[in-house]
Amino acid sequence: MGLIPLCGGLHSRMHYLFYVMDSCSLKTAPPAPRETRGLEEWSPSLLKVLPPGAPFYPFCVWWIFHYLRIFKNRDYKVVFIREGDRVIQRSCLIPAFFRFPFMQPADLTVVIWTAAGHRGKGLATRALHEAIERSRQPQRKIWYVTKETNLASIRLAECLGFSFLGKGRRVSAFGFRILGRFIVDILDSPFARANTNVRVASSAK
Ligand SMILES: CC(C)(COP(=O)(O)OP(=O)(O)OC[C@H]1O[C@@H](n2cnc3c(N)ncnc32)[C@H](O)[C@@H]1OP(=O)(O)O)[C@@H](O)C(=O)NCCC(=O)NCCS
Repeated sequence: MGLIPLCGGLHSRMHYLFYVMDSCSLKTAPPAPRETRGLEEWSPSLLKVLPPGAPFYPFCVWWIFHYLRIFKNRDYKVVFIREGDRVIQRSCLIPAFFRFPFMQPADLTVVIWTAAGHRGKGLATRALHEAIERSRQPQRKIWYVTKETNLASIRLAECLGFSFLGKGRRVSAFGFRILGRFIVDILDSPFARANTNVRVASSAK
């Protein structure tokens, strides 16, 4: 499928691919289980700042964003898989916030990780499928942003039925990456045209 370049020379600074799906249009059948470990769910509360086994950053920041309502909806959640005491897969659904200016308030985006040594066994496919299934809501879109060099991540998005929307980049604000945002520079066609509430960065025009 061809891309619509909006100005010349964008490819050199393009680092991210943007995928999206309607939360209710997830492939209904979960992937054939290659892995049968139990799935657990975590959501934040006043005393639950970090999901089990999760690093302080960025999870502490996300907890603050949840309580300060910088997150635009209340549906921040993590579905995870343990092996013994150790978490080996973590699928996070993060509400819309300033980093994703193209997301609507009800939307969620994916942040996902599988422990090295457990990759390629279907853990991410299974946990993310379940996380999305538990977050279904009419009008809600699920976004997936990944580096264009991350083949495993791209394959995962495609396996779950995400549609490729376009390409873009991440920019800092006031010199701080944490305050920055993603920008869509190029929209794919025709899917992107049917989802035109996403505006292409004006700097790309
Ligand atoms: C991306 C990531 C979460 C995938 O986790 P995983 O548990 O290995 O994923 P799965 O086993 O469910 O595999 C999903 C698909 O990707 C494919 N895949 C997995 N690793 C791959 C690789 N290195 N290269 C190409 N495809 C790969 C699998 O074959 C599978 O496709 P298939 O069903 O057609 O066989 C994992 O590689 C990871 O944690 N990477 C580091 C963190 C990261 O990059 N997160 C994504 C940021 S958006």
